[in-house]
Amino acid sequence: MAENERSDLDHAAGRNGDGPAPVKDEAPAQQVAPPLPQPGGGRYAQIVGWGYHVPSKVITNHDLEQIVDTSDEWIRTRTGIEERRVAADPNETTASLAAAAARKALDVADVHPSKVDLIICSTSSPEYIFPATASVVQDAIGAVNAGAFDLSAACSGFVYGLAMARGHILAGDAEYVLVIGAETLSRIVDWTDRNTCVLFGDGAGAVLVAASDVPGGIMATELGSDGSGADMLIVPAGGSAHPASLETVSNGSHFIKMEGKAVFRFAVRVMAEATTKALDRAGLTPDDVDLVIPHQANLRIVQNSVLRQLKIPEDRVFVNLQRYGNTSTASIPIALCEAIEAKKVKPGDNLVFVGFGGGLTWAACAVKWGVPTAAPEVGWWRSTRRQAGYQAAAARSMWRRAVRWMYDVWPADPEEAASGDHEATAPEPKKQVSGSRGE
Ligand code: UT7
Repeated sequence: MAENERSDLDHAAGRNGDGPAPVKDEAPAQQVAPPLPQPGGGRYAQIVGWGYHVPSKVITNHDLEQIVDTSDEWIRTRTGIEERRVAADPNETTASLAAAAARKALDVADVHPSKVDLIICSTSSPEYIFPATASVVQDAIGAVNAGAFDLSAACSGFVYGLAMARGHILAGDAEYVLVIGAETLSRIVDWTDRNTCVLFGDGAGAVLVAASDVPGGIMATELGSDGSGADMLIVPAGGSAHPASLETVSNGSHFIKMEGKAVFRFAVRVMAEATTKALDRAGLTPDDVDLVIPHQANLRIVQNSVLRQLKIPEDRVFVNLQRYGNTSTASIPIALCEAIEAKKVKPGDNLVFVGFGGGLTWAACAVKWGVPTAAPEVGWWRSTRRQAGYQAAAARSMWRRAVRWMYDVWPADPEEAASGDHEATAPEPKKQVSGSRGE
């Protein structure tokens, strides 16, 4: 590795002073299941930055009583949810929430966006069918050297993304991977269906995963799928099975449909099983777990799986669904950020992230936390430079569009240029896609 690359990596992992400093694992290395064998020694995938962003608009259970036949009492006792955030401003989209969360994660890690090698955006409410929301985010944050793709594994997607990030890092293909979970589910929820509209919310969370020589990080993952349950949680129309048509729009097939009870039973079973498998692979037991951050769908699911089956006590399980509802793939990273804010995460802790959702899918991972969680002291110069970089990203995006537009206007054929015919067919400048406004 080149010396200058090493120093940036060191900086992100806190070895240069400004960023969160990694803590050397006190436990003997053999207590932790080793990651994939690496030529030349230990290489680990550590979470070094984190951030979340939710819309400011709050919709309470009492607000929902005005819209559908429901009650605050029913929602609270059956789910634990009290309120949720909704992207009320049309400029708030999955990409804009994701970009805001990603910037915060980069700020915490004190890493410039140009250092990011890969952006994985997990979402079930993408900006478009294509291009990937991750590409819109890549442009918005100025991650000029990053590959970008979306990951579709519904509510399990964030943990799938961590597994992908770990794989890329341990294989030596990436030094920094941004993993984002982002949703604007309010845009695909049927606000007349009380079975679903009371459950979901909007938001985004992001983590920056970095290559590190500090043992631990994302130690083990367990991913699963049972597509025989695909129709239990589904947006039936808008894809190739049922392309958008007047009929699909008029019968509401573009909205989320769910068999709640069946999903509930499935969730209780797989949450416990997936957690146990991920812990086994990491060489840990439920007793070793300092904090479980489960997918925030329903308090009763968490109680029946993590608390009752795994017998992990309540004070070692983080729940914030009462304030955000089910934000699908964004729920675990948002909860992680709030757990850090609440000082429930410290270096050396064993964490479990576990989720389930449409697919059907499930995913769990065991993480040995490696960096301090106190708000890092970032030098004003680095911070100002990064903020300027975000502004420059918006300018750069506009410049690239302008150049592309000029190529469109400028005739490829010199004879056409001489005749002046091209002027009649010059296209309008393209509209900027959402999310790339540099907000
Ligand atoms: O990220 C993954 C996404 N999905 C999930 O996590 C969903 C998992 N499932 C669940 O969380 C629960 O099954 C629900 C919260 C969706 C439903 O709770 P439940 O205890 O399984 O209720 P239920 O579906 O058995 O419905 C019980 C009653 C029904 O009335 P009847 O048939 O007994 O008269 C429903 O019509 O509650 C009624 N009901 C409601 N009542 C007031 C359903 N939704 C509502 C509502 N307000 N919003």
